[in-house]
Amino acid sequence: MNVEIVDISHDNFGSVLDWSGQAQGDDVGCKFCLYWEQPDRAQWPDSLAEREAVKREWFGRVWAEFGSCGKLALVGSRPVGYSQFSPPAYLPNVAEYECGPPISDGVFIACLYVREQRGKGVGSALLRAVLGDLHARGIDTVETFARSSSADSPSGPLRFWPKNGFSVVRRDDDFALVRRNVGSAAEGRATGPRWPRLRDSARIVIGARGTMPPRGASSN
Ligand SMILES: CC(C)(COP(=O)(O)OP(=O)(O)OC[C@H]1O[C@@H](n2cnc3c(N)ncnc32)[C@H](O)[C@@H]1OP(=O)(O)O)[C@@H](O)C(=O)NCCC(=O)NCCS
Repeated sequence: MNVEIVDISHDNFGSVLDWSGQAQGDDVGCKFCLYWEQPDRAQWPDSLAEREAVKREWFGRVWAEFGSCGKLALVGSRPVGYSQFSPPAYLPNVAEYECGPPISDGVFIACLYVREQRGKGVGSALLRAVLGDLHARGIDTVETFARSSSADSPSGPLRFWPKNGFSVVRRDDDFALVRRNVGSAAEGRATGPRWPRLRDSARIVIGARGTMPPRGASSN
């Protein structure tokens, strides 16, 4: 299976996962989800168009200040996976987790999500692309909250993460803060922050050798 991993940019934001045609309520797609950005759901705009605008604004602001902060996994032209990541200061809802807080100078993976074709390596490919990107930009520490009781959490089940080089830092009854040190690339952030109109992409063939950066202190 050919999976293409692309940065989320102005040009392709419209392709961010959206299942509003098949569902109602708050669970209608990553494009409209403000879970990390606005912890108080009463403050979420009523209309999906307004929620999408808030989400776009978040991406634009974080791109300007930090750089690329989201990726899509595409099979053909079909978006099947989504990841969103940034320094935790841009994600107010991290404060709600007992096993936190994430380290302030690291990057927090807020979402890792594969909607279709799970169990075929798409989630691992998406994560490898995120870690490779952060490594190339000179970021060392990457964290997320994984969940023990369910595979459905912002970043998936706890069992997924050690397989990808992450170690548990702290845990509560349900969630665990997991961390991997990806090691800073010598060139650091060569290009600086940007919110590109042109698409950066990487093609990944599931089953082929991956692009994972060298494992750091948390390797196993
Ligand atoms: C976590 C997730 C991204 C993994 O994606 P995926 O494409 O299924 O992952 P992969 O196929 O690359 O699997 C990698 C490994 O993790 C394991 N794994 C994946 N999902 C698992 C699960 N639910 N329970 C246990 N192990 C799991 C696989 O067995 C595989 O291990 P293996 O290679 O030793 O067999 C996906 O399961 C997911 O999206 N979960 C829901 C997350 C969620 O709710 N996000 C909400 C965002 S708001």
